[in-house]
Amino acid sequence: MRTVLGIESSCDETAAAIVRSDRTILAQRIASQDDAHRPYGGVVPEIAARAHAERLAPLIEATLADAGMTLSEVDAIAATAGPGLIGGVMVGLVTAKALAMATDKPLIAINHLEGHALSPRLADAALGYPYLLLLVSGGHCQILLVEGVGRFRRLATTIDDALGEAFDKSAKVLGLGYPGGPALERLAREGDPRKVRLPRPLKGSEEPHFSFAGLKSAVLRAKQAGDHSDADIAASFQQAAVDCLIDRTARALARCGPVEALVVAGGVAANGVIRAALEVLAATHGLRFVAPPLALCTDNAAMIAWAGIERLELGQSDSLDVAARPRWPLDPEAEAVRGAGVKA
Ligand code: KG4
Ligand code: ZN
Repeated sequence: MRTVLGIESSCDETAAAIVRSDRTILAQRIASQDDAHRPYGGVVPEIAARAHAERLAPLIEATLADAGMTLSEVDAIAATAGPGLIGGVMVGLVTAKALAMATDKPLIAINHLEGHALSPRLADAALGYPYLLLLVSGGHCQILLVEGVGRFRRLATTIDDALGEAFDKSAKVLGLGYPGGPALERLAREGDPRKVRLPRPLKGSEEPHFSFAGLKSAVLRAKQAGDHSDADIAASFQQAAVDCLIDRTARALARCGPVEALVVAGGVAANGVIRAALEVLAATHGLRFVAPPLALCTDNAAMIAWAGIERLELGQSDSLDVAARPRWPLDPEAEAVRGAGVKA
């Protein structure tokens, strides 16, 4: 049995977790910075880095205390080493290096996207490789074939905005505040998804890539035109987003070869309408649908600890001079896509 301390600091959540190889999360803490960034309507890198630097050490201490453990009792320290906002990533990685050096434990540098990609296996012991993963959050929007630890094939990415970004920006247009995804989903429940005619960018196109910038702009125009209620705009936006997502995911399924399951991860996986639509899609393909609990879908440190466990079990660890990487694609072989390159 192995126990790993995980550290996550690549965006606006400072997080630590202690996870055991039998999939028990012994403790986890997340300090959200939403309040610090809210006045700016988005994450401010400098504010994020400072907040991570102030909060991380006490957070790790508290997480160890929650688990009733000391640092000497963990087997390894895993930290996000990218991709993400580099100031925050460096705070987490340097902290992990210091702890690894002080305790003489292995350091494991984790790709944040791999954390998301493997987190469904933390939640579901029965989930084997390969599976098709839809990774959708504020910063990520990809479809990946997950074949094993460190073995990913990127089938699709976004050529402009990430899906969560489109939710957040549309929510901002509707005056819903930040982060807007959950608020937009709530408002959409009161609206009619057929009321406002909105585009479905790239729907039906050959490659399974995403595009949401045109949809977001159409939401702005609909709001400015003043012909529809905010609830109808929200519901129509969400429906358009779901239609795109399902069409693109179906396209990826058609070309990925046999898989065990359709899996969704990332903050947008919290959306009930999206989950339900994906569940139907999986069923029509005779696939199992796996959506980890919400706490594992959004940025967290348990997924980083788990990726660390998977790597440790393969005998992998990193040297203390491993570098933080603002960009770190899971599939370096994947072709660059025109217009792509948002955040991850
Ligand atoms: O994974 P996450 O916590 O952070 C990263 O972006 O990496 O995802 C946050 C994103 C935000 O864009 C947020 O608006 C979106 O996930 N989100 C949602 C919902 N809950 C969170 N989008 C749509 N519907 C939701 N219920
Ligand atoms: Zn993330």
